[in-house]
Amino acid sequence: MITKCLFPAAGYGTRFLPATKAMPKEMLPILTKPLIQYGVEEAAEAGCSIMATITGRGKRAITDHFDISYELEHQIKDTSKEDMLKEIRKLIATCTFTYTRQNEMKGLGDAIYKGKSLVGESDPFAVILADDLCVNTKGDGVLTQMVKLYKKYKCSIVAIMEVPKKDVHKYGVISGREIEKNIFMVDDMVEKPDNDKAPSNLAIIGRYILTPDIFDIIKDTKPGKNGEIQITDALLTLAKKGMVIGYKYEGKRFDCGSVDGYVEATNYFYNLSK
Ligand code: UTP
Repeated sequence: MITKCLFPAAGYGTRFLPATKAMPKEMLPILTKPLIQYGVEEAAEAGCSIMATITGRGKRAITDHFDISYELEHQIKDTSKEDMLKEIRKLIATCTFTYTRQNEMKGLGDAIYKGKSLVGESDPFAVILADDLCVNTKGDGVLTQMVKLYKKYKCSIVAIMEVPKKDVHKYGVISGREIEKNIFMVDDMVEKPDNDKAPSNLAIIGRYILTPDIFDIIKDTKPGKNGEIQITDALLTLAKKGMVIGYKYEGKRFDCGSVDGYVEATNYFYNLSK
């Protein structure tokens, strides 16, 4: 089954400069919890126990976050503050964290390819982009919903949402046939199309389940939009064989890679905590 989740986190997070000059974007907090911890909790809920992160220069804080801090533990021992570490302690105790670096920003497809040594080539695996924060207060988390779908369809899955036509150029966009409510058999996908050339307004968000044959395909994928190796282009090869599902998930998603989405998420979680 799906026990490994890849977290591509090598990007520079330039939309958050200067905050991201020396600190990874993935460590920006929504209230008191860093973005990547929300992602790891979602993956753990979905049954993953191997959390594999693609990092880059200046991203050491991620590695330190998922490790025990003995001085801190000693300092807050037997105080009420211990409670604030309960969730992260549980993750550290139950999951294995592995890391590799993407030395050059060659795109999400390349970042995922770098994860081959961490997730192996024999099983399907999940991918979470931690700056896309997903929450479902009414039931299963988004990755759990996708894992359940994988059990039925046994092919690659991308999470999709409807976006206004004027925004499609910011996303990978799919087109496909709705085979069940909210489930699409993908027949075309384009990375960041011009608004008037997009095949639909169904945009891919940062949740994927990928079958390991994707690695050989990425290897042969030429740089696309912005000169980067795009996972969308690699997945198109599988889509042409009817091997990609688009899933309109249940829940909310915040684009925390943008300042607007980040503020929206902060307000949402603050109200939820009251
Ligand atoms: P983004 O383009 O949203 O992230 O990539 P970014 O480049 O860090 O942000 P800005 O635009 O400069 O503000 C989506 C995700 O893919 C990862 C990023 O870390 C982010 O989680 N990514 C992207 C990589 O790991 N490597 C890449 O080469 C590109």
